[in-house]
Amino acid sequence: LAKVEIKLSQIPEGKSMVFKWRGKPLFIRHRTADEIETESNVNLAELRDPQHDTDRVQNPKWMIVIGVCTHLGCVPVADAGDFGGYYCPCHGSHYDASGRIRKGPAPLNLEVPPYTFPEDDLVVVG
Ligand code: FES
Repeated sequence: LAKVEIKLSQIPEGKSMVFKWRGKPLFIRHRTADEIETESNVNLAELRDPQHDTDRVQNPKWMIVIGVCTHLGCVPVADAGDFGGYYCPCHGSHYDASGRIRKGPAPLNLEVPPYTFPEDDLVVVG
């Protein structure tokens, strides 16, 4: 399937869920106000792949990324690691709740796929 539709009300606040898009894991995280605040205040000078949180999300509540580690392609684990986001157990890459690489061997942030919100409660990825 080229496009996938996901109902957002099934993802509780504070939770990250895994879906599938074009054979790859797709992470959607319903971020809390604290997470939004933390990620928007990260100093870009500290980042390996500098990107502001606002350039990675369309709506700050929803972080939508491809769940494939940019090191060698393992699937990171949600709510683990040192930065409140994702941890890749293969070689120890830590991502934050914006999907940005913060520590470990991965060179780049988790990829943001194309998506739109046709309705408040619906995202279409692809
Ligand atoms: Fe994720 Fe190596 S594949 S750290």
